[in-house]
Amino acid sequence: MSARTSPESYSQPEEDKSVLRVWGKSPLQGQVKISGAKNSALAIMAGALLCPKDCHLRNVPTLVDVSRMGEILTALGVKLKRNNDILEIDARHIGQSKAPYELVSQLRASFFVIGPLLTRLGVARVPMPGGCAIGARPVDLHVRGLQAMGADVQIEHGTVHACIPGNSRRLKGARIYLDYPSVGATETLMMAATLADGETIIENAAQEPEVVDLANFCRAMGARIRGAGTNTIVISGVPSLHSVDYSIIPDRIEAGTFLVAGAITHSEFSLAPIVPEHLTAVIAKLRAIGAQILEEGPNRLRVIGSPERHRATDIETLPYPGFPTDMQAQFMALLTLSDGDSVISETVFENRLRHVAELSRMGADIRVKGNHAIVRGVPMLSGAPVLATDLRASAALVLAALAADGQTTIHGLQHLDRGYDNIEGKLRQLGARLERAQAENVDPAMFQLQPK
Ligand code: UD1
Repeated sequence: MSARTSPESYSQPEEDKSVLRVWGKSPLQGQVKISGAKNSALAIMAGALLCPKDCHLRNVPTLVDVSRMGEILTALGVKLKRNNDILEIDARHIGQSKAPYELVSQLRASFFVIGPLLTRLGVARVPMPGGCAIGARPVDLHVRGLQAMGADVQIEHGTVHACIPGNSRRLKGARIYLDYPSVGATETLMMAATLADGETIIENAAQEPEVVDLANFCRAMGARIRGAGTNTIVISGVPSLHSVDYSIIPDRIEAGTFLVAGAITHSEFSLAPIVPEHLTAVIAKLRAIGAQILEEGPNRLRVIGSPERHRATDIETLPYPGFPTDMQAQFMALLTLSDGDSVISETVFENRLRHVAELSRMGADIRVKGNHAIVRGVPMLSGAPVLATDLRASAALVLAALAADGQTTIHGLQHLDRGYDNIEGKLRQLGARLERAQAENVDPAMFQLQPK
């Protein structure tokens, strides 16, 4: 498999000139509402292309990434209507088989439209998501799977051209073994197989809850899928799909981020709605370091941060049900203030430790060796100007700022806005002190920003 890079650094959105100022050490209390899952919403929006009727999606989070995916669907000729957390998608007419480069390059999850487009139109042209600040971004598993299903796939001038040869315009069921349980490849191939001729078996499939959510969405439209959530997914192609009204699962990464907020501020508050099983690894680690996580009902958790310092622990990121790579940065923030040494190993992506430099700016003691970070707990962090480098790194900085002495100013908010629905409002409601403001006289050299 090619080099692995962080998927959440996919997009390199335009730099945001505003900053988030956070004054640390306010205790948090009350309750927080968790939004719908970003990664489910993005995949399901791509999946809506499979349906030649109306799709009614509920619990859709308000995020820049979701808006961008909406723009991509609109550019393909799809009609969208948004009303609060409800998104109506009408993909009766798809007027375009080519996704526009300017949009795809900003949101790499948009590559997932390739499977449904190919299935609906018999042809799809999607620009390669391309490299990003931290490396190349392979889609080889998506491409090889589509080829196994009979698609002719070429990469020309930076665009993946896929078509179904012959007159049938239908892909053929196939047995596909993924070299790695890629979430995106599993989703692309599952969507493509829903309308294929015959049975498709995806082995070594990703088991993430968002894969299960997409499978449930497709099943609600009439697709025949079994085994989603295990490492073998079997899809029996059907001739067509029908309209659907579907509610997206709660965002386990947003929930995990708030659980860490409770621990790092030694606070107590509750979170809902949540599917606790989606957070098994995160909850286990929080308990291991001394935080209490109580189930207050089937979909409500209470976090009680230890009044003392939390203990150190080791973390290794893995595909689900292992510890999620999307929670690694936030846990690192927490462990900088824990008692003792922790080793964090990032095994899913090869270069996802860029938040270390910014946490160090706040006084953290972290050494990086390859894909391992050795975090030595320090007595305190102190507020500083810091730069968010990607989505979860920006969440880690917000968490560190909540626990730090004094004021932290976080730059690079375009990353945070991609994936957290109203994080400031939610934190403020819990009692945090923070505000968004225009950046004043930022010296680019301070962050080694490339002048534009
Ligand atoms: C999804 C999530 C992301 C999460 C990641 C892993 C979305 C929109 N994003 O990203 O938040 O961090 O799962 O849980 O759902 N790979 C290849 N070839 C491919 C595809 C992937 O080599 O064709 C590699 C990647 O470089 C990476 C690994 O497989 O090293 C896992 O990536 P993958 O599971 O595909 O992540 P995404 O679906 O992109």
